[in-house]
Amino acid sequence: MRFLTAGESHGPELTAIIEGIPSQLPLTEEQINEHLQRRQKGYGRGRRMQIEKDRVRITSGVRHGKTTGAPITLHVENKDWKHWDKIMGAAPLSEEDAQEIKRQITRPRPGHADLNGAIKYDHRDMRNVLERSSARETTVRVAVGAVAQVLLKELNIQLCGHVLEIGSVKATEVSFNDIEDLKERSEASEVRCLDSEASEQMKQAIDEAKENGDSIGGIVEVVAVNLPIGLGSHVHYDRKLDGKLAQSVMSINAFKGVEVGIGFEAARLLGSQVHDEILYSEERGFYRRTNRLGGFEGGMTNGMPVVVRGAMKPIPTLYKPLQSVDIDSKETFSASIERSDSCAVPAAAVVCEAAVAWELATAVLEKFGSDTLGEIIKNLEDFNEKARNF
Ligand SMILES: Cc1cc2nc3c(=O)[nH]c(=O)nc-3n(C[C@H](O)[C@H](O)[C@H](O)COP(=O)(O)O)c2cc1C
Repeated sequence: MRFLTAGESHGPELTAIIEGIPSQLPLTEEQINEHLQRRQKGYGRGRRMQIEKDRVRITSGVRHGKTTGAPITLHVENKDWKHWDKIMGAAPLSEEDAQEIKRQITRPRPGHADLNGAIKYDHRDMRNVLERSSARETTVRVAVGAVAQVLLKELNIQLCGHVLEIGSVKATEVSFNDIEDLKERSEASEVRCLDSEASEQMKQAIDEAKENGDSIGGIVEVVAVNLPIGLGSHVHYDRKLDGKLAQSVMSINAFKGVEVGIGFEAARLLGSQVHDEILYSEERGFYRRTNRLGGFEGGMTNGMPVVVRGAMKPIPTLYKPLQSVDIDSKETFSASIERSDSCAVPAAAVVCEAAVAWELATAVLEKFGSDTLGEIIKNLEDFNEKARNF
């Protein structure tokens, strides 16, 4: 399974093509829209999210509510496009239009892709970089992840992202009964956090950062349940599923760290405090007493919940500008301001969920087949039965 995304932040639309989704999967635009709306929520978002009411349009690969096995094309329109058609149009500009929109972006923002992208692709107008490096792209990543989640749910595999930390505020009450409980309670919080006291403190921290013209980052966690044993493989570096998940999560805009299970904490503990003891019951088969390793041993799932965490740095576009240098005049300037969020950690939890969903769905298809949903369900059930009786 693979996908490509295309589209600029202020272009006409964002597009994704997914190849390899099996046939006979019930899929509707509404199922995808639900996740797009989740990405748009969250305390600390800027004005852009009020302009955009993201909705997907499926133009291939789905007929009468079911996938056909052909590539699936997803489109999400940028409602703001009508104000940007000249600035972002594909056609060459007339002299008159060029005069009208002569403003070029020449002041790179520290922490963004502006300067490196401009030098690499030889752009004097850094809009050519920032339009694509913008996290607006994560809209279609969430749409793609939503399709993956629809597939996983048919296999009884579910997942959910939530927020553990924003700035220096740490959630302490993060336990949940089951995945439904996690989904409901994270959805009910404006910062997607299970700890209601910490949620209020997180909102205050966001307000403070915003008042100071600053931005604030945080840590998100994705939990996935009901995975079979043996997704991924120990036999080769690029087949290790924890490695693939790390790449996928690290590629999300502004993500600077990834942990599986207790992650970095494992380095500070002794082996006996880290490794999850193996138990057996006839009903469950093999399982672990604890889940510190986040559902992975040897690059393969071990049947315990998969737990992946990502650290998001504070957003680079600040109203309180940092020093930068104009690429034309070489003069020192305060970095230019595009419209910006002050905190996007709650939204990033949804993006992270999408990234994890995609990797898990890909690994499921690799192991259990990829033509029709029915075949995959049967193969998975047979394997789970075999693993239980191993
Ligand atoms: C959901 C989400 C929303 C974001 N919103 C903004 C934003 O409004 N302004 C901004 O400068 N960066 C925003 N970012 C982060 C930048 O896209 C990111 O820092 C930039 O592309 C540079 O990449 P890097 O930080 O991974 O090096 C956002 C990231 C995510 C995940």
